Amino acid sequence: MATDNLDVIRDQFTKQAVTFSQSPAMQDEEAIRLLIKASGVKPGARILDVACGPGMVVCGFAASGVRAVGIDATPAMIERAKILAEEKALPNVEWQVGVAYPLPFEDNSFDAVTCRFAFHHIPSPIEAFSEMRRVCKTSGVIVVCDAYTSDDPARADAFNRMERLRDPSTVRFHRLGELERIFQQAGLTPTRHFYRVPFEMNTLLKASFPNEGEAGLVRDMIEQSVKDDSLGTGTRQNDGQIIFDYSVVILAAEKQPGG
Ligand SMILES: C[S@@+](CC[C@H](N)C(=O)[O-])C[C@H]1O[C@@H](n2cnc3c(N)ncnc32)[C@H](O)[C@@H]1O
Repeated sequence: MATDNLDVIRDQFTKQAVTFSQSPAMQDEEAIRLLIKASGVKPGARILDVACGPGMVVCGFAASGVRAVGIDATPAMIERAKILAEEKALPNVEWQVGVAYPLPFEDNSFDAVTCRFAFHHIPSPIEAFSEMRRVCKTSGVIVVCDAYTSDDPARADAFNRMERLRDPSTVRFHRLGELERIFQQAGLTPTRHFYRVPFEMNTLLKASFPNEGEAGLVRDMIEQSVKDDSLGTGTRQNDGQIIFDYSVVILAAEKQPGG
């Protein structure tokens, strides 16, 4: 089935392409190393990164001697990715403009298939996962990395409301258990690695493109969360700044024979 939110995705990520590619949090090498480690791949392997954005994960793999392919729905993101790979003089990368499902690759083509910070933009994560699994070799590794919400339904709803206002291309952030269930429904038990990404409210808002007139609502919700943690993000004041955390998980599992 086709993805039905591509217009809003391309609109948002064309606007976000430069700021996103320069974000220290998104460039964080330690976080990328953790994801590469979870994939278990060795130099010489070939991987696919789905919804690769400006190519940080692909370039991380390529710098460690892995042949890496990145695919993303937004041409402006792929343009940024090409620039990054050129700056780093990485020859072992390939880029494609394309969607997460269906993927334009043969069955069993890659030693690992990864997807970072995109499941919350994808209307059917199950279909995206199924395509990642299809193109992954047997005993290859499927890695999904994303932020997840609080298990408390009111906090999860508030967080998603705030995020959809901040970035209208967000479909929904999932609870940790929901992300794990996507693996489990495919008969896989993922390993889990956790980290947090703190953001300062004004810095994040400067890099965001909410619909006209809605930035104030985002600010109100984050400020309210300092008082009652209504977003479930541990929002706090620090030296006059408002900081809140995205809780991130890296889930990884080997594709089983016949899977
Ligand atoms: C938040 S960015 C993450 C980029 C990159 N994975 C990273 O972690 O640096 C989300 C990316 O997902 C892409 N995207 C969203 N929906 C997509 C889809 N259905 N198919 C392919 N790419 C998609 C967007 O174009 C955007 O580049």
